[in-house]
Amino acid sequence: MLNWHIRVPLLILTALSAVEAASKKIKHVVLFGDSFTDQSRSHSIANGTFPGKGYQEVFPPDDVAPDGGVQWPWYLGLYGNYTIWNYAVGGAVCNNDLTPLFDYPDVLHGQPDWFVLDHITGNGTSHQRLRLNPDEFVVVIWIGTNDLGLNNFITDDQKPGLSLVDLATCQIDSVKRMYSLGARNFIINSVIPLHLTKLYSNSSDPLIYWPEVHDGPGWHIRMFNLVNSLNALVKAGIKGLNEEWTKAGRGGRVEYFNTYGFFEELYNHPELYFNGTLPASSTEWCHKCPDPFDWHFCGIGDCVGDERDSYMWWDELHPSEQTGRNLAKEMLKKINGRSIY
Ligand SMILES: *[C@@H]1O[C@H](CO)[C@@H](O)[C@H](O)[C@H]1NC(C)=O
Ligand SMILES: *[C@@H]1O[C@H](CO)[C@@H](O)[C@H](O)[C@H]1NC(C)=O
Ligand SMILES: *[C@@H]1O[C@H](CO)[C@@H](O)[C@H](O)[C@H]1NC(C)=O
Ligand SMILES: *[C@@H]1O[C@H](CO)[C@@H](O)[C@H](O)[C@H]1NC(C)=O
Ligand SMILES: *[C@@H]1O[C@H](CO)[C@@H](O)[C@H](O)[C@H]1NC(C)=O
Repeated sequence: MLNWHIRVPLLILTALSAVEAASKKIKHVVLFGDSFTDQSRSHSIANGTFPGKGYQEVFPPDDVAPDGGVQWPWYLGLYGNYTIWNYAVGGAVCNNDLTPLFDYPDVLHGQPDWFVLDHITGNGTSHQRLRLNPDEFVVVIWIGTNDLGLNNFITDDQKPGLSLVDLATCQIDSVKRMYSLGARNFIINSVIPLHLTKLYSNSSDPLIYWPEVHDGPGWHIRMFNLVNSLNALVKAGIKGLNEEWTKAGRGGRVEYFNTYGFFEELYNHPELYFNGTLPASSTEWCHKCPDPFDWHFCGIGDCVGDERDSYMWWDELHPSEQTGRNLAKEMLKKINGRSIY
């Protein structure tokens, strides 16, 4: 009896300090995803130069990241003093075999292959070794926007027999693949409230990403449903994986980052997060395409200089650089176990 009373608080104390200790040790962040995370890999691929070993270009030559500036992982590295290994590619999906789009390196195969090139010696041999300390890095996975989006679920172009369950399973499988390579700390970012973007808004205006006729109100309502359902499935998968790993006793922890809730907060209280020289806006965007049928006109009428930080969105789909700085700040809290998201 006495023993039992003493033991419980001790166990709790030990557990808490273990989490604290773990977060303090993180020195590297490894990222997989799409244009919401990519710095310049998609530019490099489009330019005919396929990124190889050690490629970590932050500033795309003569260009910007898909957020109109520098992408959030760079800020995360700055704020947290982390070394950033960003393998995300704009236009990527979780698994090209499930939801093919541009066939860019995906989160399940091509992107972790780059991680193998950079961090594993003797890959595929009995001497295979991970050169990073598993306690010192966290893997962040943020995917789903293209899987749910144009030419996939929202336009009913997904393969026959494919459901959101397959997309959620793919995210969990990509965690398992990295686990098998030795990674032990994971964060999966949920899909953002895509119905709040212009692309999936309740409007049928022609858009640079979809100039053809479309049923705006229909997309709006369906995207809300798709995103919330996928996020719930991923969350359940994470819970299952943590239980499995606890039972197995070989370490490993996946956290769910509620990007959805965080973006709702930015959307509902823009004045707290957007500090450009124009009034803060979570509905407008900076980068304009006056003729949705001809991208050559894109950039005419853009906001300029410090006006950029007034907007939550860079264009009809992508978050802005200032949204990225806010995300980086919150992700730093998340890694340190202090985020409410
Ligand atoms: C494209 O490649 C050329 C050289 O092959 C390089 O000079 C240029 O900076 C690259 N542009 C981008 C956007 O990667
Ligand atoms: C930043 O990280 C590097 C490498 O891990 C370390 O040597 C340095 O002391 C850190 N700087 C600060 C201010 O924590
Ligand atoms: C690593 O080894 C596996 C198994 O031999 C192989 O399938 C894979 O292509 C290799 N990956 C890289 C990036 O070389
Ligand atoms: C969408 O717009 C229509 C009018 O075009 C309006 O009747 C409807 O209430 C709107 N729905 C939402 C969810 O805002
Ligand atoms: C807005 O705040 C960020 C820090 O979150 C800062 O880096 C940026 O320079 C600020 N923008 C302007 C226009 O002052």
